[in-house]
Amino acid sequence: MAQKTKTKQPETEYNKMAMAYKSPYERWKEAEGLPTIRGLSVPSLMDVELTPWASRGGSGIFVNLLGTGGFNDTYICEIPPGKSLNPIKHIYEETVFIVSGRGATSVWLDGGEKQTFEWGKHSYFAMPPNANYQHHNGSGTEPARYVAMTAAPRVIDTFKNLDFVFKNPFVFDDRFDGKAGYFTQADSPDPGGGWTTNFIADVDSSSKIATDSKARGGRTPGALGTGFNMVNSTVRSHASSWPVGFYKKAHRHGPGIHVLLLRGEGYSLMWKDGEPVQTVPWKPGTMFVPPEMWFHQHFNTGKEPCLFLAIGWGSEKPKAGGGAYVYKSLKEGGDQIEFEDEDPAIHKDYEEAIASVGATCEMGGLHPFCTSG
Ligand SMILES: [Fe+2]
Ligand SMILES: [Zn+2]
Repeated sequence: MAQKTKTKQPETEYNKMAMAYKSPYERWKEAEGLPTIRGLSVPSLMDVELTPWASRGGSGIFVNLLGTGGFNDTYICEIPPGKSLNPIKHIYEETVFIVSGRGATSVWLDGGEKQTFEWGKHSYFAMPPNANYQHHNGSGTEPARYVAMTAAPRVIDTFKNLDFVFKNPFVFDDRFDGKAGYFTQADSPDPGGGWTTNFIADVDSSSKIATDSKARGGRTPGALGTGFNMVNSTVRSHASSWPVGFYKKAHRHGPGIHVLLLRGEGYSLMWKDGEPVQTVPWKPGTMFVPPEMWFHQHFNTGKEPCLFLAIGWGSEKPKAGGGAYVYKSLKEGGDQIEFEDEDPAIHKDYEEAIASVGATCEMGGLHPFCTSG
């Protein structure tokens, strides 16, 4: 019999203990009383049902997508109409994206003055590590919902002490010194494409996402991208937009890059070298994480340009996620698949998908397998 059978572990005390092990981070989430979403993607951040979250106020849910590999997490949280969440501080990084609603956030250092800034749908900002903060809903009738990417899993699992993580007197004054105006949107992107700012009022206002995106599209006409640097952190994120009729080259890198769709419709293919390809369909509100060193490729099949925001760490990491490799062809030892090296079925499927919505593939000048123009 050639059939593969899974070796059953003997039921020793040690194995039982190993199977029942929960990391300090898992135990913390359980104590918070919220369930966890797992898997490859969250189809719609707007539609996820939330659970009352006593310690924070409001309601929430944790998200540990497969692609994070325990490196980072997200949670979705909703502030009820007319209410504020409870103040909190923590030593781990947290980056906040407003899914819906409007409101304000107050931030202060222990014993220092409060500063408050306002936000709305698709605002984007980061909480400086260990600064106190409190989110307020600005509407008396509508809830406000956000998704936050955090370093909680690796910080809680490293220190294993919740007082150290949540009640630590240390002030990271290299990150935030309490000065007023800290959360103001900086005027314009830096030369070179990055944008150093602690607040973005609306990621969707593409007039501000002004840099030509040369990477990964082979100079796709009309593709735009901007990298964000916030609160002097190691978090790196970028917004990326490209037009109807185009898709990007496949590439791979390290774990934990959360891709949030703001505009457009399409799908992403994700696969581990030599294993079956997974398709993740997307629309505004979808969030997914390509698992570590899985190839992934994003396809716009909608009738308007698509826009995503990718939040994670990684741009400075070697090999898995290192910029020196992610833009370099596989043939040269990099982690990008050039169009001419692609499985021909990928382009054929794309042309069929885009034809079915009444649009056409526009990649004639870029892709050797293209049948249009
Ligand atoms: Fe990627
Ligand atoms: Zn084509």
